[in-house]
Amino acid sequence: MKYLQQIAPGLNAYKLGFDPSLLTTLRAMFDNHLRERLNREGYAYLFTGMEQINIQMKAEDLQFHITSYGTAPLLWISNNNAHTYAFFKSFMDELDIMDDIKELVDFDNKIEIYCGFFVVGKKMDRETWHNDFQDGANAYTLITPLFELDASHGNLMYKDESSTIKIHEYKMNEAVIFGDGFEHATQPYSETDNLRVMLSLTFGTDKIEYWPTLKQTIGEQSNYMILPCGHEKGSCQCVPG
Ligand SMILES: [Fe+2]
Ligand SMILES: [Zn+2]
Repeated sequence: MKYLQQIAPGLNAYKLGFDPSLLTTLRAMFDNHLRERLNREGYAYLFTGMEQINIQMKAEDLQFHITSYGTAPLLWISNNNAHTYAFFKSFMDELDIMDDIKELVDFDNKIEIYCGFFVVGKKMDRETWHNDFQDGANAYTLITPLFELDASHGNLMYKDESSTIKIHEYKMNEAVIFGDGFEHATQPYSETDNLRVMLSLTFGTDKIEYWPTLKQTIGEQSNYMILPCGHEKGSCQCVPG
């Protein structure tokens, strides 16, 4: 492995530092098109975590889909067209970790970037333990702060090899990357005025045979996503079922 460093022995989770300039475009996108709107009083309901939310936000050529599952006060703001997706994909291309990822997944030709998200919250009132993927998904999640976090903002809780709960502190310009078997949760934190904004991407195998496993967790996370076959979800016949 060239860049990835395991966060603890035996875990399918890694970290790596990167150059701050890689975030410039996505930070500007969030500041120019989302921050002010999300802070409007009329949108306060988005952050309560009490109801299932699915809305669109558009700004010039950018399109976002905003989901909250109603199980935690967290917004998943995903790229909702190819133009917006391309900005998230650029971040991954510049991060240049695909040779490392190829050592971790079964693939044919390349690692596919499935979807990009801003994960936004103002508080977390519960521990929602989960795995991002079913076993054998051959895919990963990347997560990194998009902006400096408040001291109170929740970090990453995870279970180590012996199922002991540990905390990984998010750092600016350091990404965490994890796959199947990595049980984790956002550390609860009390309400803040300052939005907690994380950048997240999903990526992995280009083999369509893994889609039935992948779709269990990532199939409905966004409207727009690229499938392992490289096509936009819903636009091709490659996928079984
Ligand atoms: Fe997760
Ligand atoms: Zn396809």
